Amino acid sequence: MRFKNSTIFVTGGAGFIGSAVVRHLLRDTHARVVNIDKLTYAANLESLPGAEGNPHYQFEKQCICEGASLRKLFEKYQPDAVMNLAAESHVDRSIDGPGEFIQTNIIGTFTILQEALRHWRTLSPEKRHAFRFLHISTDEVFGSLGDEGFFTETTAYAPNSPYSASKASSDHLVRAWRETYDLPTLVTNCSNNYGPYHFPEKLIPHMIIKGLAGEALPVYGDGKNIRDWLYVEDHATALTTVLERGSIGGTYNVGGRNERTNLQVVETICDLLDDMAPTDDGARRRLISFVTDRPGHDHRYAIDASKLERELGWRAQENFESGIEKTVRWYLDQKPWWKAILERGYTAKRVGIGQ
Ligand SMILES: NC(=O)c1ccc[n+]([C@@H]2O[C@H](COP(=O)([O-])OP(=O)(O)OC[C@H]3O[C@@H](n4cnc5c(N)ncnc54)[C@H](O)[C@@H]3O)[C@@H](O)[C@H]2O)c1
Repeated sequence: MRFKNSTIFVTGGAGFIGSAVVRHLLRDTHARVVNIDKLTYAANLESLPGAEGNPHYQFEKQCICEGASLRKLFEKYQPDAVMNLAAESHVDRSIDGPGEFIQTNIIGTFTILQEALRHWRTLSPEKRHAFRFLHISTDEVFGSLGDEGFFTETTAYAPNSPYSASKASSDHLVRAWRETYDLPTLVTNCSNNYGPYHFPEKLIPHMIIKGLAGEALPVYGDGKNIRDWLYVEDHATALTTVLERGSIGGTYNVGGRNERTNLQVVETICDLLDDMAPTDDGARRRLISFVTDRPGHDHRYAIDASKLERELGWRAQENFESGIEKTVRWYLDQKPWWKAILERGYTAKRVGIGQ
């Protein structure tokens, strides 16, 4: 009876990971979910099939930077937990326009922390004891690794992009609200996610869609940057595990030990597309081209998730091979989902060169 009689605020629940969390909560638990989302370009309520009309689900179109309106939502729903996923999340966009990242990722987190604290202080001792504020963050706050080693929960923060710096700032705020005001907070730092319902600007869906169309597949730099990939539904189960059983004030790294160079990722997608959607034009690897690198492009990320595995018993269910196959299949089967985004005017134009 997971989360029976609990109301959980999920901010950013119309985004890529937030929607996976909402789908997981509605499918696998008894929680009542309030999805609080401003509906930026990255949001898509079509990523929540069946949610509307579900008696355990409510949607509130709301920006997390607006304290007075957030306060009304806390008063209306009396949540038992907040999962804070609302964010600007695309590194390339943060290079061209950092302002939105400062606003949502830092000011927004500050604002919802203040409103969560105000709400928490009104609760009965029993409810106060059970309340949790889970802040969802990224491994990018730790900066870049050399060829060896892993990020652990004690790795020093060294963010390199406006995006990761804004996320690092928000992590520090969450920690301070715990240390200073006793708000029961937790933080997770996860590696790169991939899977269904991923906005086409991100590496994996971008390459699937371009590869399917027989268009050039632009790989940044020499393609040797390494990312540690986690299937998004594994991230969702990690988050509910931490929410349920994580130690207050704790931070948990989330990852699936799936390091790949960007070039390996793109080559794998090419090969899967050749198998699943063959054409007479030749192997899709021919479409790969190398383009100007991202400024400040971190060389390698790799997560040590052993604390989460050891202390809370979480395990990723997918490895990269199984997850990427499911993902490519999903994009082939769910063309209306991503074609609607392209039809709304998303052009996949290169951004973030820093000019
Ligand atoms: N995508 C990844 O690989 C990854 C990895 C680790 C951590 N994270 C973190 O997970 C969280 C979710 O990432 P994602 O990839 O799902 O992002 P996303 O860009 O797909 O979705 C973000 C959602 O937040 C909403 N939002 C943005 N600004 C808002 C505001 N001011 N008020 C309310 N809602 C707002 C958007 O409308 C959107 O629905 C982020 O905090 C991100 O930093 C992402």
